[in-house]
Amino acid sequence: MNILITGGCGFIGSHFVRTWYNRHPEDTVFNLDLLTYAGNRDNLADIEANERLLDIDVRRYHFIQGSITNIQLLDALFQEYHFDVVINFAAETHVDRSIISMTDFINTNVGGVRCLMEAVRTHKVPRFVHISTDEVYGSVDAGSANEEAALRPSNPYSSSKAAADLIVLSFIRTHQMPVIIVRGSNNYGTFQYPEKLIPLAISNLIEGKKIPIHGTGKHVRSWLHVEDFCDAIDLIAHKAPIREVFNVSAEERTNLDVLEILTKHLKKDLAAHSEHVSDRPGADTRYSPDSTKLRTTLGWAPKRSLANDLPKVVDWYLVHQDWWKKIKEKKEFQDHYEKQAKGQWY
Ligand SMILES: NC(=O)c1ccc[n+]([C@@H]2O[C@H](COP(=O)([O-])OP(=O)(O)OC[C@H]3O[C@@H](n4cnc5c(N)ncnc54)[C@H](O)[C@@H]3O)[C@@H](O)[C@H]2O)c1
Repeated sequence: MNILITGGCGFIGSHFVRTWYNRHPEDTVFNLDLLTYAGNRDNLADIEANERLLDIDVRRYHFIQGSITNIQLLDALFQEYHFDVVINFAAETHVDRSIISMTDFINTNVGGVRCLMEAVRTHKVPRFVHISTDEVYGSVDAGSANEEAALRPSNPYSSSKAAADLIVLSFIRTHQMPVIIVRGSNNYGTFQYPEKLIPLAISNLIEGKKIPIHGTGKHVRSWLHVEDFCDAIDLIAHKAPIREVFNVSAEERTNLDVLEILTKHLKKDLAAHSEHVSDRPGADTRYSPDSTKLRTTLGWAPKRSLANDLPKVVDWYLVHQDWWKKIKEKKEFQDHYEKQAKGQWY
């Protein structure tokens, strides 16, 4: 099979490229990524090195730099490679950045998904998996949101993702498109861009800086190990019925709970090494997606836990300081961090 993965140089996308490449040696993986500030070819250096050892005609991984908003590029790629499966991870993903400016979020998360849907339709791709987020349900004060729950996004990032979900659902209904939507919860793992809570906290602690905590830190998120998420997407891509939506979620904990686990592992006191900054305007207090449908219909369950696996993730960032230092040294990172660390939203 030929599989197109978009956004494969980001955090989750790079894990997914690796998962598919290693697990399905008969398939060829095409990775279309624009390489925005969050895209990093270093995330797949192991696979690129492996490919260089192979003769050109047996190589199974191909990187293409380009945007999912470029319909001419999509047409040319879909025409040439006849993809059997397309999985879309490409997106602008940082809520803080979406509060400051929404332009790229609309262009990629909404416009890009529209272009992909048109290409999938025109070229009759048999299967398209769109990666969405539990944030589309907005804050859930009580109970949990299953796949039928109303979409009530609260911030510009989640509203752009919800808009994309609505476009995808409309294509399913109008054109009977062979699409599956996957709504994942907060992922944690290796290779996550260090503006996000966990890698920012670990790297700041190592650098002797404080961890900026939004508001009280008592917001509840459902924490999902990135490899569990990739297992779920792999299963869904192969086995799920089309025209369905699946939530994927794991353990509900507050941000402070997560920070307690990682500071304890690094033998630091959280209170002494953190500072509370002004909360995101309109911040969601609790996400609680219900993943019963995936667990019962496809038998998926997370194999990792925060207690066992977050310390291993912390160790990876300890060992791979070159990876995140190279990012944190960039002006691009520092300019945004200045605002993020001070809770400046405008
Ligand atoms: N990180 C999470 O906790 C989480 C949870 C649920 C769902 N998601 C969703 O999973 C997907 C991946 O998230 P992530 O955390 O890995 O994101 P990320 O920000 O780490 O990576 C995004 C990738 O998309 C690429 N990209 C951006 N715009 C593009 C464009 N126009 N064309 C092609 N490539 C483009 C970037 O270069 C980058 O490699 C997103 O759709 C996100 O909404 C993320």
